[in-house]
Amino acid sequence: MDVSDLDLDAARAAITAAATVDELAELRKRFVGKGSIAARARESIKTVEPAERPVLGKAVTEYTKAVESLLADAETALGPAPPSEPPLDLTLGGHGRQRGHLNLVTQCQRELEDVFVSLGYVVAEGPEVEDDWHNFEALNFPPGHPARAMQDTLYVDLGEPEQVLLRTHTSPVQIRLMESQEPPIFAVIPGRTYRNETVDARHSAVFHQIEGLAVDRGLTFGDLAGTLEAFTSAYFGKQLRSRLLPSFFPFTEPSAEFAITCVFCDGSGCRVCSQTGWIELGGCGMVDPNVFLAVGIDPEEYTGFAFGFGLERMPMLRYGVEPIKTFFDNDDRFLSRY
Ligand code: FA5
Repeated sequence: MDVSDLDLDAARAAITAAATVDELAELRKRFVGKGSIAARARESIKTVEPAERPVLGKAVTEYTKAVESLLADAETALGPAPPSEPPLDLTLGGHGRQRGHLNLVTQCQRELEDVFVSLGYVVAEGPEVEDDWHNFEALNFPPGHPARAMQDTLYVDLGEPEQVLLRTHTSPVQIRLMESQEPPIFAVIPGRTYRNETVDARHSAVFHQIEGLAVDRGLTFGDLAGTLEAFTSAYFGKQLRSRLLPSFFPFTEPSAEFAITCVFCDGSGCRVCSQTGWIELGGCGMVDPNVFLAVGIDPEEYTGFAFGFGLERMPMLRYGVEPIKTFFDNDDRFLSRY
């Protein structure tokens, strides 16, 4: 063989005329593969005159390079050969899973539980379907007492009429705790509560409360006030002023409404606090002696205090969330923000 056998024009014409990638593969074998024109020319190098060897060697190399380049261009133009097997799908399982997280109300509940546990309280809970005794009667709401109308009750169609109900507050757990253990008792009771109430920006038919109960010898109203101030300051992260205004609950005497200085305006008055500078969080008071008598605790020996706050109120104020239904709408744009 000699240099004239390496006809690049003939190779170019054949490659240009090829219509499929398979045809190109055939041409690769013919021009530069094993036993091809180029392969045979390379083998013949050792048989030609020594003076011609470099010339033939260079020609073979350039021919091979040129043919490979023409083949590569043609392959790109004709596209990849359709795979005989379905391609391996490496994307399966490659997507990270988005992790869920706790609802803001549950986050707040856990945060408040931590504050009370650090004050020496235990976390307690009770049933959401209650009986009249625990929800009302033992809490000094006798049948027909007008204070029952303060809490629009949802009754369950079970047993005697109006004896089984969805608890209207977390206070029945106070009774369950005092029935089952001797003082001293220091417990915090978060949970879901139900009222047949018209829904508005701050009221929902299903909501949460966080209740506290402390029973021991010598507890005073001052202990109640100090405890409330300590936990609200811990939650809102700053020293807040608080106030207690006289109120009425059948199960506490004296009773009070607990309010804090508005966290938005620091007490100067704004839209959120209706220009009053104060925001009410819930009710509280000293355990009424009648409640102690209903559960067999001697009111001459022990005193106690209790409080019950709307749980949603706390994150509503801390983050400016309104209306209350935002917590329960399950809108991912809200849920994923916190
Ligand atoms: C009570 O439920 C008493 N059990 C609180 C209590 C406990 C007083 C222990 C004394 C001693 P009240 O009905 O005011 O009280 O409710 C307490 C708080 O629950 C309210 O201040 C409010 O923050 C919240 N709350 C009441 N009703 C609703 C509602 N429909 N939706 C959302 N939050 C509510």
